[in-house]
Amino acid sequence: MSSTLLHLECSETGRTFPWRQLATVSPASGRPLLARYDLERAKAALGPAPWRERAGGLWRFPELLPPPGPTGPVTLGEGQTPMLATERLARRLGVRACWCKDESFNPTGSFKARGMSVAVTMAAALGARELYVPTAGNAGGALAAYAARAGLPCAVAMPEDSPSANRLEVRALATECFEVPGLIGDAGRFLRERYAGREGVFDLSTLKEPYRLEGKKTMGYDLRIELGDLPDVVVYPAGGGTGLIGMWKAFDEMQALGWIDARRPRLVAVQMKSCAPIVEGLLAGREEGVPPTAPRTLAAGLRVPTPLGDRLMLRALRATGGTALAVSDDEMLHALREVARLEGLLLCPEGAAAWAGLLRLREEGWLGSEERVVFFNTGSALKYPEVLALVRPPDPCRPLRLVGDQEA
Ligand SMILES: Cc1ncc(COP(=O)(O)O)c(C=O)c1O
Repeated sequence: MSSTLLHLECSETGRTFPWRQLATVSPASGRPLLARYDLERAKAALGPAPWRERAGGLWRFPELLPPPGPTGPVTLGEGQTPMLATERLARRLGVRACWCKDESFNPTGSFKARGMSVAVTMAAALGARELYVPTAGNAGGALAAYAARAGLPCAVAMPEDSPSANRLEVRALATECFEVPGLIGDAGRFLRERYAGREGVFDLSTLKEPYRLEGKKTMGYDLRIELGDLPDVVVYPAGGGTGLIGMWKAFDEMQALGWIDARRPRLVAVQMKSCAPIVEGLLAGREEGVPPTAPRTLAAGLRVPTPLGDRLMLRALRATGGTALAVSDDEMLHALREVARLEGLLLCPEGAAAWAGLLRLREEGWLGSEERVVFFNTGSALKYPEVLALVRPPDPCRPLRLVGDQEA
């Protein structure tokens, strides 16, 4: 059975568009397009518990993804990440159960691989000849890897103060790499000006094409499949928001497929204090994000001041009874060290922010003692040596004893 993709739908107006050509945003509203499937047909083809028979990662349900071209999906083995039961963290929080969905196991060391696998597959299938993306760091590494895998040239632009590992990774993988002053929005402007009018060039910015979201939604399927049920609360470090919006979309699809009932996990977006457009938008009761004035944080992936998916993120949080909260860099560093010591899990700064957010939600009583919660570690800590250097060493700091060392 192949893809049941029907059309693309404007996330604001519901107007539909054909999918058989390279698509960007909805022409009238300028807002993201969402892929819509024939879920009745997919349900009949898949049966009630298709995961029993289907092994493999992200592409294991082609019915629920767009159709790759004749050469098949552009894949590097994405998905299949561990859902780790973290008992000590559950006890630390005082909740029934806690899991860490560890996305650092993806190719290029972050969950951005999921989105880029599907987006590059479709861009190549629909005739793009060159790809580009502005990035806070990890999306650039992922695009560069998947473009190379597809045999397409690509350009990546990122803020010049992006983490060194992101810059080195992109320099090694991409056709062209630009480090620009400012933030991700400035990187986007730079690329649009540079490639304006060039034939066959396609922009894979967050939510400016419909298929990165399709890759990210598979994290929502994973929750259901790997836990046998959905958790009560899902905590996610939100920048551009594709993961959050993607999981919310997956919940609706799974209900239509009969995999879940009408209950939803409460979705939580964790952002950083200096860059919290969604938190501020939620607090102000607005439908759009509130851009920060000075977005500076060690969690580079969360430095997204004006996400195109702001309206969708806010809708997802409200519709599921969720919330958004902002943590400081200090709370994040403390959280990183705590989870490292308690579980042997070295979180990326964004994942550590999610844990810091969870602690606060429990302290404030928003999270109850009987709840089951999943938080996302969205990338590998090893891509952030500058941040790891700031994590406080053990106290007292004991020298590392190696095999064969003499006792003092
Ligand atoms: C490690 C990491 N976590 C979280 C995010 C935010 O992801 P999203 O744009 O899906 O909200 C990013 C984005 O760059 C990231 O690199």
